[in-house]
Formats: sequence, C-alpha cells, structure tokens
Amino acid sequence: MAYNSRKICKRIKVFLVICCFVLPLYFIYSHSLVKEGALCANKACSCETCVSDRGISHWFDMRFNSSIQPQLTSSNEKIPQDILLWWLGLQSRRPRMRMMYSRLFETMPKFNSVENSRSCHCRRCAIVGNSGNLKGSSYGQLIDSQDYVIRMNRAVTKGYELDVGKKTTHHFMYPESAKDLGANVHLVLVPFKPLDLLWLENVLLNRNFLLMFRKLKGPITADRDKVIIFHPVFFKYVHDKWTEHYGKYPSTGMLALIFGLHICDQLSVFGYGWDRQGNWHHYWENNRLGGAFRVTGVHNATFEMNVITRLAEIGKIQLYRGRPGTP
Ligand SMILES: *[C@@H]1O[C@H](CO)[C@@H](O)[C@H](O)[C@H]1NC(C)=O
Ligand SMILES: *[C@@H]1O[C@H](CO)[C@@H](O)[C@H](O)[C@H]1NC(C)=O
Repeated sequence: MAYNSRKICKRIKVFLVICCFVLPLYFIYSHSLVKEGALCANKACSCETCVSDRGISHWFDMRFNSSIQPQLTSSNEKIPQDILLWWLGLQSRRPRMRMMYSRLFETMPKFNSVENSRSCHCRRCAIVGNSGNLKGSSYGQLIDSQDYVIRMNRAVTKGYELDVGKKTTHHFMYPESAKDLGANVHLVLVPFKPLDLLWLENVLLNRNFLLMFRKLKGPITADRDKVIIFHPVFFKYVHDKWTEHYGKYPSTGMLALIFGLHICDQLSVFGYGWDRQGNWHHYWENNRLGGAFRVTGVHNATFEMNVITRLAEIGKIQLYRGRPGTP
C-alpha cells in the first residue's frame, strides 16, 4: 500500500513537471520555430529583395543555379571526370603532369563548410575589386557597413581606408597573388592548378614553398580554420553559365563576384572596371599596365564587364563605379 502511494506520488510529480515546465517551454519554442520556419520557407532570405529571387529576369534565371556549391568541402569533394579534366587542363598541357596531380584532391586536407548555412538574416555584402576608379570615391564607410566584405589578390586597405574601407571578411587569392591576412579573415583559395592546393597545404603548415623555379610567397599569415577552397565545379559553372566560354577561363574578379551572388542576399560591387581615363590600373599604384590581365587574352574583360553591367541593370547587384562622371 505504502509502495503504491509513493508510486502515485511520483507519477503526479512527473505530471506536474511536464505541465509546468516542459509543455510551456515546448509551446514557446515550437511557436518560435514555426514562426521562423514560415518566414524562411516563403523566402530564401529576409531582405526585401534577394539575389536568389526568381522571376525577375529570365536571363538571370537561366544562369543562376543555387545548387552549385561554391566551396569545396569533404561532403562535396567528388568532381565529375569531365570537369576535373577541364580544370587540370587550365595550366598544364602535359598529360603526365595532369595524371600526377589528379590524385592530389584525394590527399588534400578537407575543410569544413564555413558559415554556409542560410539563416533568416538578410546578408549584405560588399565585393571590392582593385580598380583605380576607387580613388577619391569615399566609399569606405559604405563598404565597411556591410556584413561581408570580399576583397581579392593584392588588395591593400592601409592608407586607402577612406575610399576602400578597412574591413575584410573574405580574401580571394592564388599563390602568385598571395598576401598575409588579418585574424578572422577567410582565405579563399582559387586553385587554378593542382600545385596551388599543394602550396596552400605547405604555407598553412608554415613551410616555404619554392617549387617549379618560381618563388612564391610563403609562409603566409592566415587563419587555418577559416580557409575556403573555391570549388572547381563552381569554377566551371562560372565559365559555362556566366562568362560563356569567352576568355580561356574567368578572372578572379569574376569568380569572386559570382561567389558573392551565391553566398549573399544583397551584393554591392565596388572597384570593377576602368577608371575615368579608361585605365585599368589598381587603386594603390600608378602603373597603367596594372590591369594587364585585360590584354593577355586569358580573360575577356569586355565580356565580363558586360555581364556585371547587366546584373546591375536588372537590379541583382548595386554597381558603384567610382567618382561621378566615371564612364
Ligand atoms: C543546377 O545544377 C544541378 C547540379 O549540377 C543540375 O542537376 C541542375 O540541372 C541545374 N539546374 C539548372 C536549372 O540548370
Ligand atoms: C570578348 O567579348 C566580346 C563580346 O563581349 C567580343 O566581341 C570579343 O570578340 C571578345 N574578345 C575576344 C578576344 O575573344
């Protein structure tokens, strides 16, 4: 009898605990879950307009494919054979070299996906190219006010803060354009060849990397935990869908911009194209040939600029062209 009443007492306690604590918590929590879920389900992002919105431009919808992942991770490392061969052929025509390096991907350390998850937050980004049209633009504050600030190659901010800002969250580079990065900056490696992956592995392990008669910068300062490897499949997607095979392959600036389209909800673009005099130099130097990439024939800068201008015309990006009167 005593045993039974103790048992009943215990059951009542459990019942009370459920009624008083668990259920209210569940209701509060599930309610907020439903609310957030509903918000996110209707719209991919919570901005008023989002890059990924469909039905605004047929031209855009034919090209933008949100299922192509920009970042190489251990869960999407499989690269279809045709894309792998295309990528391996970008720099080396020697089949033996290509065979040798094709296994490199398998041995590369894999990086976990960095902040890839889409929350209900509206993610605003600035992508900052290196064009001389930034000089005297006073865009610094506007650039720094964005959630993500993406820069590339040898971009410098020190001494140019008023025009280009000082914040960087992502920095695109390849070995020949590498530089030291501040803490908390994502190094985004654009691998143009398998050697670039080997370089990354070495410089992250604090080794100097002197290979193939070329002196590359290393070791570099960068946050190992924040490294992102640009996916070769995404590379091919930009080449196929966005630059449509104009040029041998897309420029770093183009790759970074399309990357931005995929990870951001709103994208403001600074420092792309020519300056007021039609020069393609960098904002930090006076070298008129700074934009030599334009004439090497590897990239088609005209076509790329047309794509960027079109993205601006249909409102998918905000394009800032520097000082008023800039062509
Ligand atoms: C988007 O890419 C995926 C993966 O490559 C492909 O299966 C799908 O058909 C593509 N969608 C469009 C609309 O091109
Ligand atoms: C670059 O693209 C433009 C079209 O935008 C084309 O007229 C031109 O011939 C291309 N240049 C080269 C070198 O392919």
